[in-house]
Amino acid sequence: MNLVATSTVMTPTAGPIAFEAVMRTAATKLAAFDRAHPRRDSYPTDAKGPHWRTVKVHDWESGFYPGCLWYLYEYARDAGWDDSDRWLRLASDWTESLESQQFNNTHHDLGFVMFDSYGNGFRLTGRDEYKPILIQSALSLASRFSETTGMIRSWGDIDDMESFTVIIDNMMNLELLLWASRNGGPETLREIVVRHADRTIETFFRPDGSTCHVVELDARDGSFLRQKTHQGKADGSTWSRGQAWAIYGFAYLYQELGERRYLDASLRAAEHYLDRLPTDGIPPADFDGGHDGIGFKDSSAAAVVASAFLRLAAVLDDPAQIRRYLDAAVSMLGALTRPPYFSESPADAGLLLHGARNHCEDSGHLFADTSLIWGEYYLLESLVRLHQQSAADPPA
Ligand code: GLY
Repeated sequence: MNLVATSTVMTPTAGPIAFEAVMRTAATKLAAFDRAHPRRDSYPTDAKGPHWRTVKVHDWESGFYPGCLWYLYEYARDAGWDDSDRWLRLASDWTESLESQQFNNTHHDLGFVMFDSYGNGFRLTGRDEYKPILIQSALSLASRFSETTGMIRSWGDIDDMESFTVIIDNMMNLELLLWASRNGGPETLREIVVRHADRTIETFFRPDGSTCHVVELDARDGSFLRQKTHQGKADGSTWSRGQAWAIYGFAYLYQELGERRYLDASLRAAEHYLDRLPTDGIPPADFDGGHDGIGFKDSSAAAVVASAFLRLAAVLDDPAQIRRYLDAAVSMLGALTRPPYFSESPADAGLLLHGARNHCEDSGHLFADTSLIWGEYYLLESLVRLHQQSAADPPA
């Protein structure tokens, strides 16, 4: 399928994507963060203005900046930039600053932390020394799996018998386990992935294809207790980033395992998302949030979905369906790479503006209109993938 005419992709609604200009801006912003943090022990999380707020190594967000650097390196290598070695060095250094996290089993996000950093590093360099670190990370994550519930516990102590909480975001951490099961780790890791994913379909999905954010299970007998939210507007609402995690998580599971039920889950979630998407292609933080102004948008959810749609387009057979998801992804990326969502300005630390960390009205806790580091990560991931697909399928 022909995606590009020259170095730009024409989008149905948003005009061309200027890959080179966007990646040059990304390079400037990523380098600025590195210069400002020479100790490499603080990682960007969100930004309203010229400086990122930072977190420490054990936080769930620590892998995204190293992951951004890997995608920048990948683009620089593909595009023949003179300084691609510099990006390789920076990506390696920031990745290796996370080494201690392979033993962290206090949360479920080791997939985000270690697969976005070491996983991309291994994919791009084949470095043998990254393999045991990834396998140990998978084992640490798998230690949160419960035979009784058939799921990985997202939050809380491993042996807490009073509560067992799982969030839809957990789907994103399974890729690490699957990779490890095929690269020297135990085969049981794959079984954990399948059991967790199947119970996610059973407990998180609603009949209309929407998903809830949080599920509580009984730690003693594994029974389902209730659907809730933590970052969405209400227990019965659809938090758009949660929906994005579901689309993406099941898309890659289908890509990796070829099981039709995972494709169906991804497509159900995707169609619900598209049905409710405003015409500018960027969702509100919560589809039931009652606000559609730009201050309530979540550009990071759009970046996750764009990347997920590219994965879907790569595995679907029906040309009309491929076209549908590809066009939607390209259209979303067109919107995300220009104002008001994209910022070239050094007055903004991030590339993507108007992200929302959460939309919790019950706690008076709307955290929106911000750059978010995972928004940057999935934007770069989708641009690099689209750029490669375009190069592999040049104009006739
Ligand atoms: N995984 C946390 C979030 O999406 O905010």
